[in-house]
Amino acid sequence: MLEKGGGKARIAVLVSGGGTNLQALIDAEKSGIIRSGEIVLVISNKAGAYALERAAKAGIKAETVLLKEAGTQEAFEERILKLLDENSIDLIVMAGFMSILSGSFTNRYPDRIINIHPSLIPSFCGKGFYGLHVHEAALEYGVKVTGATVHFVNEIPDGGRIIKQKAVEVMDGDTPEVLQKRVMEQAEWIILPEATEEICAEIVRGK
Ligand code: GAR
Repeated sequence: MLEKGGGKARIAVLVSGGGTNLQALIDAEKSGIIRSGEIVLVISNKAGAYALERAAKAGIKAETVLLKEAGTQEAFEERILKLLDENSIDLIVMAGFMSILSGSFTNRYPDRIINIHPSLIPSFCGKGFYGLHVHEAALEYGVKVTGATVHFVNEIPDGGRIIKQKAVEVMDGDTPEVLQKRVMEQAEWIILPEATEEICAEIVRGK
């Protein structure tokens, strides 16, 4: 945990895939948008995720924790908790992390886990709504506006308190891939670093 009276909040980023949101966080730390926190650890639940390469390029320690290797959800979460503890993590940022954490995990870090979701919650969220599926559902429904949400993580999937949202227009002829890219560029890569800085600043102030 943070030393009293100074320093930065220590951030762990949880990833599963391409890691463009991780990249946005790394870039935001470089450019000074994130100044109250530092990314010190990346954890992937997928072997070979490109996000791990992004971490390596940025000189950030990266670890892979596999459910299959751990054997049970409980053991998987214990391994992650151990890494968080060993690295004195203050804030956990889920950036495209495609695994639902149990209540016993989220209760260990109240208001200290945030997630980016690619829709305007409470639309197109909860179990089964992740990645491209979210945009497929939005297009199928025919909404004209979608967006992204950063929220605290609790035991309810996508159910924690909302921190930030940004709306994005749906255009005629959008495919899920095209819409996903627009939501990332116009919303996710902006509000995730902003929310991260806000929470880190709060953590630093409170210590
Ligand atoms: C992002 O669109 C993120 O919002 C979404 O997965 C993508 C990951 O991309 N997350 C969820 O759907 C979580 N429910 P990235 O690996 O390039 O950041």
